[in-house]
Amino acid sequence: MLSSRLNHHDVRAGTPGESFAAEPSRAVYQATLSAMAAIVETRDPAAGDHLGRIRAYCRIITRHLDRRPRVGRPLSNREAETVVEASTLHDIGKATIPDAILLKPGPLNRTEFTCMKRHALAGFRTLTNAMRQVGRHPFLVTARQIACFHHERWDGGGYPTGISGERIPLAARIVAVADVFDALVSRRCYKAPIPVCEARAIIRRDAGRHFDSVVVDAFERGAEEIEAVAGGIG
Ligand SMILES: [Fe+2]
Ligand SMILES: [Fe+2]
Repeated sequence: MLSSRLNHHDVRAGTPGESFAAEPSRAVYQATLSAMAAIVETRDPAAGDHLGRIRAYCRIITRHLDRRPRVGRPLSNREAETVVEASTLHDIGKATIPDAILLKPGPLNRTEFTCMKRHALAGFRTLTNAMRQVGRHPFLVTARQIACFHHERWDGGGYPTGISGERIPLAARIVAVADVFDALVSRRCYKAPIPVCEARAIIRRDAGRHFDSVVVDAFERGAEEIEAVAGGIG
């Protein structure tokens, strides 16, 4: 039901007639976005500058992305930048996950993982509430797609809905690659980092299974820039 309401066409945001009531100034908008993202970072300090790197990876991927879609029209520059900015909120739903699970210094058991997975729908609900107040603003539409679908898999084996392929919004397919790559090369409370070259090989291997191969192609084209960002992980 959820997946039928949200589809990849939602990423083609910015169509005439959408509500832009009381458009905030750019500075207010950026400050609000930073404050929301900071809540998640405060809850999960081990993630370090994960959110900053996700933005950087998404910017590189969208720059190298073959913008000619399999169907529909190409992603515009403005939409690509919206994906970059909205990626900051991909894990906003984690604000609802208990510390005992979020900060557990080891692998999650089955029950804990089931709880952790709820962050995707929690993010969907949070951003749905925001949309009730200001309407279907393109930024919120994209942020909600990302928060809800960034753990879906191209082959349909992901969560929370198990949708597959192009039914997964493009914005979420982009963030999925960036998020998994950063998790692989970062130290987390439950695992050591792996070398960038190994992480690249895993992303490549999972093209067409976990990830959209078009997005993986863009990731590969931007690999040097992505490695430069990953090289700054402390
Ligand atoms: Fe997540
Ligand atoms: Fe993440």
